[in-house]
Amino acid sequence: MVPIDEESFPGGVLRGDTARDIARLTDPGLTAVIVAPGERPGWLDELAELVVSRRLVITRTTLSAVSRDEFADWSRTALADTDRAVARPLLEDMTGIVEQVMASADVGRVMVRVFTEAPTRRCGFHVDTVPPQAPTTGAVRVYNGPTTEYVSGDDVRSMKDFYAYLSRRERVSRQAGAGTRGDGPACAAADPLVAMDETPSFLRPHAPVHRVPPDATVYFKHIDVRRHWSPHPVADAWIHRSPMQGPPRLVLNVSPAQTASAGPGRGPAAHG
Ligand SMILES: [Fe+2]
Repeated sequence: MVPIDEESFPGGVLRGDTARDIARLTDPGLTAVIVAPGERPGWLDELAELVVSRRLVITRTTLSAVSRDEFADWSRTALADTDRAVARPLLEDMTGIVEQVMASADVGRVMVRVFTEAPTRRCGFHVDTVPPQAPTTGAVRVYNGPTTEYVSGDDVRSMKDFYAYLSRRERVSRQAGAGTRGDGPACAAADPLVAMDETPSFLRPHAPVHRVPPDATVYFKHIDVRRHWSPHPVADAWIHRSPMQGPPRLVLNVSPAQTASAGPGRGPAAHG
């Protein structure tokens, strides 16, 4: 079983503070910039309580190509019944991430995926994609509960090995179907998904899995969908996964949209 490393930042991942740090994602060797607040704001505790107790529920939503103002309008509606002491800073925080991705990618519209859900074992390690020729910097923010896990590019044997693993895991996950709930009986030690998650075949022996610090936003490299499944350099995308179990979490994913006129459709799966 791979160890979890919660302390260090491996090669290819930078702890950053500013837009200039995020802009460094154009460096060929960098896959992610992790931005954590200096001091944890108090409203996050209240938000966590609302999400865990399911008093704040956001059904899985994909906004295919929204402007900053359209996203803010959507958020105001989604948070209309939420205490203003939480709703206001949350809206500001989410909108700030949308603005940052827009600035980093130099785009006026983004795809936003947002939900409150408990993690499941349905999806394992993966890379996120963007539409053809779209900029590749996007972001994920987990507002409460267990955070995103990721691996160092130095520990990945090759993308050929990674995609072979991903293909096999997706097949096994489909076969397991609804039985793959993270807290369900299907997660017994014999479950093949558990074995694949605990010892990912694309990792070098004894490589640790790293965990994003709490309260952090990760700006990270996505892969152009046309290069997904190809043997591209490991450093061209951030390999990560959601935790496999835990309480409901509020997760926000933001990535550049293809065009302003892109209509609703099935985007990439959202994981955090
Ligand atoms: Fe993801």
